[in-house]
Amino acid sequence: MLRRLHRDQPDDFSFTPANLNWAKAQITKFPEGREASAIIPLLWRAQEQEGWLTRPAIETVADMLGLAYMRALEVASFYFMFQLQPVGSIAHIQICGTTSCMICGAEDLVAICKEKISAQAHVVSQDGKLSWEEVECLGSCTNAPMAQIGKDYYEDLTADRFGEIIDEFRKGGIPKPGPQNNRFSSEPQGGLTSLRDYPRETGQYNASVQRALDRSDTIRRIDGGEEAFVTPWLEKVVAELPSNIKKLPQHATKPATSRVVESKSDHSKHKPATLNGPEEVGADNLKMIKGIGPKIENILNHIGFFHFSQIAKWTIKEVSWVDNNLEGFNGRASRDNWVVQAKLLVAGQNSPIRSRVKNRDIR
Ligand code: FES
Repeated sequence: MLRRLHRDQPDDFSFTPANLNWAKAQITKFPEGREASAIIPLLWRAQEQEGWLTRPAIETVADMLGLAYMRALEVASFYFMFQLQPVGSIAHIQICGTTSCMICGAEDLVAICKEKISAQAHVVSQDGKLSWEEVECLGSCTNAPMAQIGKDYYEDLTADRFGEIIDEFRKGGIPKPGPQNNRFSSEPQGGLTSLRDYPRETGQYNASVQRALDRSDTIRRIDGGEEAFVTPWLEKVVAELPSNIKKLPQHATKPATSRVVESKSDHSKHKPATLNGPEEVGADNLKMIKGIGPKIENILNHIGFFHFSQIAKWTIKEVSWVDNNLEGFNGRASRDNWVVQAKLLVAGQNSPIRSRVKNRDIR
């Protein structure tokens, strides 16, 4: 397919303030002189904001990185994930047409797209709401045939169900993503045949599906305001970046080099509530949380954390505080998702290693 800029282009482009902060923070990931490496995340964020990648957006990103426009256009036109033409205002649907999906019915899905959206790929439907294309393997082959719509995968599709999903999107609904045949994820249709000792970490739906349902934003444009963007390398939430990060040049001829490190006083205000000692019933066995061993449990007790209920209440910023105060085990709280595990334990459900701790496999 010939990939070139669309003939109709808007006059200009600018990131929303939150997305601009996010983009500037991305640039700080790379060493001085290598800021151009941030081009893909910045182009991607521009596309998430607008739906497709316009010429002004490509040029704005090039300016931010001190790049010749041609260099940015080379990247944008090389990768098929960048949409160089307008897409549907509600959703752009990507049908996997590679082997597994083709064998399992991708052609039927394409036929539905032609019938319900437009006869040709990359042509927006008459009502302007939807567009589609066929793409290469999306890595969900065990759930073939499948389609990516917005940020989510719709898997184990049939032509009928896919048609219903398109209709739901058109009416403004957010159909449940993930497997459409009641599979939890990609286990055999008849149930697990191996790894049966590992309990599920979530309830009715797998984590991706549950998150999409909780947020209802599978296809929403990203303006940066929908959720605080975490930048672990700055130990900060982007929405609260201090003002010096905003001084990065908009049209950099010399790459920006600012690095932002949160001051200790800023950071300490996110310390979660602690206790002087365990409640009367006694301390919980925090080792039931995957990622907490005896040493980390000691550290947590020393700080003032004794109960699952305390951990279950940590906010993103508080997790960040804990991550930075684990004395040699930094980052474990977010890496192993202690908050989700603690919530499960508070609700009386299993954590991944609860049974192992109970059986004294882990002391
Ligand atoms: S073949 Fe369709 S996801 Fe891999």
